[in-house]
Amino acid sequence: MNGKFPHDFLWGGAVAANQVEGAYLTDGKGLSTSDLQPQGIFGAITPRHEGDSGIKDLAIDFYHRYPQDIALFAEMGFKCLRTSIAWARIFPQGDEETPNEAGLAFYDRLFDEMAKYGIQPLITLSHYEMPYGLTQKYGGWGSRATIGFFERYARTVFERYKHKVKHWLTFNEINMSLHAPFTGVGLPADSDKSAIYQAIHHQLVASARAVKACHEIVPQGKIGNMLLGGILYPLSCKPEDLLETQRQNRDWLFFGDVQARGYYPAYMQRFFRENGIQVAITEEDRQTLRETIDFISFSYYMSGCATADPEQYETARGNILDMVPNPHLASSEWGWQIDPVGLRYLLNVLYDRYQKPLFIVENGLGAKDRVEADGSINDDYRINYLNDHLVQVAEAIDDGVEVMGYTSWGPIDLVSASKAEMSKRYGFIYVDRDDAGNGSLERRRKKSFYWYRDVIHSNGNSLKQKG
Ligand code: BG6
Repeated sequence: MNGKFPHDFLWGGAVAANQVEGAYLTDGKGLSTSDLQPQGIFGAITPRHEGDSGIKDLAIDFYHRYPQDIALFAEMGFKCLRTSIAWARIFPQGDEETPNEAGLAFYDRLFDEMAKYGIQPLITLSHYEMPYGLTQKYGGWGSRATIGFFERYARTVFERYKHKVKHWLTFNEINMSLHAPFTGVGLPADSDKSAIYQAIHHQLVASARAVKACHEIVPQGKIGNMLLGGILYPLSCKPEDLLETQRQNRDWLFFGDVQARGYYPAYMQRFFRENGIQVAITEEDRQTLRETIDFISFSYYMSGCATADPEQYETARGNILDMVPNPHLASSEWGWQIDPVGLRYLLNVLYDRYQKPLFIVENGLGAKDRVEADGSINDDYRINYLNDHLVQVAEAIDDGVEVMGYTSWGPIDLVSASKAEMSKRYGFIYVDRDDAGNGSLERRRKKSFYWYRDVIHSNGNSLKQKG
């Protein structure tokens, strides 16, 4: 793997506020939509009563333990840490005129701690959560008013952190709202397609407004989108399978098309017409959308297949999408199909399509770990998974794809998004906490910790062609 990664490649890890911070009502934070989903992003929306508790309320207590965690990331040599700002820490109900100073001060402390070690923040403005107040009072992203509240929030954090944070992302996995509407756009799960696409449209306009604000406010700032990279292959070479695959890939590429090109792609007109979907788009919205992102970021865990005869096959759920399994691939314990070559393919697809720099901001293996009697955790399965994916990133770079960086998902164990479990672990750092919330929260280095440290220190040269 000699010399394939650029010298300024941003190696690191990625977490999200609601999966690590805990402190769910501390320092004036309001309830976020995530606080109403104790079972995870597909779980029922559960109103909170006095005395209720959920695993995310404390999560891994990053809110208080971040100095120790950042020191461990620094020990691995991180150049970059992706996390999100919990919008409800800054605007607890979402529609206040002025921000919550205690919430702003927390992220100042966090970014200052990262700066001590030269770790650059990569900050997602909204990662699977929004102030719950906005869903109650306005119907979430169903309302145009939410665009303005989001813009106020984005401008507030750009002004506050403009000298500390240079890389920003707007909405995490913006394409997932089609599958988990409450998590993505604050709408009930049974909302009809017109309502969901209208809310998505509002979010796309809000994303473009944030891009404009970032360009105005943050000197040398760069802002990207964030897509769930759910690449699908045709299950066979039957032409109908190929067309169906193109159709399904457009379901998610549509978001990138709008955010990177600045307008709705032609194929969406037919899609809306044939599905009876009405979306109100004003001339002003069209102008706003022309403010496009600087780079494309995405998550990649797995690939899947599409077929024109879906009734003949069972589908398997990945990290949001239902996919027809690929007979050539093995799966993780959670049924996610492992496909390192698919990452090279996806990088090439996205670069061919947009010609913008790409940033892999999530990738990793969720697995159960065993702590041995001597306290060690020998997670060779994770090392193999990550090694094989990074080898393919190097190949894509060699193909000519511009890749800015790689932040593996969950460098420290955290609460999983889909089912709110602790036992699905991604980390290089083990956290002593189980699914019932028991444990000391003690941090422990896994075998992969030392492996990733070597990868970063050698700028990828220590990767093995065969994992
Ligand atoms: C992505 C999300 O979909 O997948 C993360 O952006 C999430 O928030 C990750 O944690 C892995 O999914 P899970 O369900 O294993 O946590």
